[in-house]
Amino acid sequence: MDIKNIVCSLNDKVRTPFYLYDEKVILENINRLNDVFCKKNFGVLYAMKANSNPYILKLVKNAEMGIDACSVEEVKIALICGFSPESIYYNADCLNSDEIDFAVERNVNLVIGSLDALYYLVKKHSGHELSLRLNSGIGAGHSSKVITNGELSKFGINFSDIPEAIRLCKNGGLKIVGIHSHTGSGEMGIASYVENANVMLDISLQFDSLRFINFGGGFGYDYKDHQEYDIDSLSENIRQLSSARGAKDNIRLIVEPGRYLVANTAILVSKVCSVKESSSRNFLGLDTGHNHFPRCFYYDAWHDIENISTLSNEMISYDITGYLCQSGDIFARQRLLPKTKVGDLICIKDVGAYGYSMSSNFNSRVRPGEYLVDTEDNFSMIRRPECFEDIISTFNLD
Ligand code: LLP
Repeated sequence: MDIKNIVCSLNDKVRTPFYLYDEKVILENINRLNDVFCKKNFGVLYAMKANSNPYILKLVKNAEMGIDACSVEEVKIALICGFSPESIYYNADCLNSDEIDFAVERNVNLVIGSLDALYYLVKKHSGHELSLRLNSGIGAGHSSKVITNGELSKFGINFSDIPEAIRLCKNGGLKIVGIHSHTGSGEMGIASYVENANVMLDISLQFDSLRFINFGGGFGYDYKDHQEYDIDSLSENIRQLSSARGAKDNIRLIVEPGRYLVANTAILVSKVCSVKESSSRNFLGLDTGHNHFPRCFYYDAWHDIENISTLSNEMISYDITGYLCQSGDIFARQRLLPKTKVGDLICIKDVGAYGYSMSSNFNSRVRPGEYLVDTEDNFSMIRRPECFEDIISTFNLD
């Protein structure tokens, strides 16, 4: 999509800030994944925590992928969007009994990551099928905050507890049909993913009724240099390892990426509200903040930022800041941009994953709308912007 043309043609008709998605890129990502992973005994789940907009879920469903849902709410959204219960894998942390009951009643696939949840299932839902989330010890990620295996990780059942988990399930009439392990998120190299897969294939031999092994998501996206994540080598490595291990043909090999499908599919368009220039530092203040796009604040993440309003050749180094009452509300430090003025449109790029889905109402600000350019270049709203009434709708003013 030609961002400049499309955003400029909107002519201020859409209030900034707003998310703008490109359907063509979403479909390219989906098709690429399907080409590589939907062969033979591979299967793909979309980790909808990355972006749960129903329009995107519809494209995922059309491509016959399943869903990794990490909350009851995500399960409900997936059901509303037409996913069958069998295609939804419910993999939440710290499950409570109501949540387990809900998942059992709705007949979605259960992924269980603690012995405590197993004790409850034995007591209340004997005869049920489930898969186990395991902590293989092999963790990786773009930040320590997104590593999900290893000693410091709260997720999964440790390998040392596998015999107890198997014993509990056997005695309690629960059938273990799958195992799952997710190393973490956003690592660009594939070595940890492959190592984890190898260990999981090894451990799978301890289970006798497996229908699938889920190796998790976490495929990297290179926000700065835009190198490709090598899903061809990844799938080939898993294929080779699984045949070398003699994994049975009827065991499905599942991957569950989120970011890979959507990271590069959206921009956040905002307007410059203030320009402060001094001899030491120049600040651009936008009409958005980490309440709308928190990745820079949370992880010091790099995102390309462009001024799409100006043709000036004079380049200036700016700190690009949000509008929140928090000094850390900074999208980028010392970025070279053309000389910018109040009213210019700035876009933050590659915000499709963990952008809107991690947004909040901090400072009692409303969330922005989400819009999409489809494959025929039609522009439409795929989620309305919030309004003040949304903010106060939960108040009890009595
Ligand atoms: N499966 C499980 C069990 C997960 O916990 C996650 C992500 C995924 C799959 C999908 O990972 P992906 O392919 O999207 O990397 N907010 C962070 C990312 C947190 C990821 C949490 N779990 C960020 O903006 O980088």
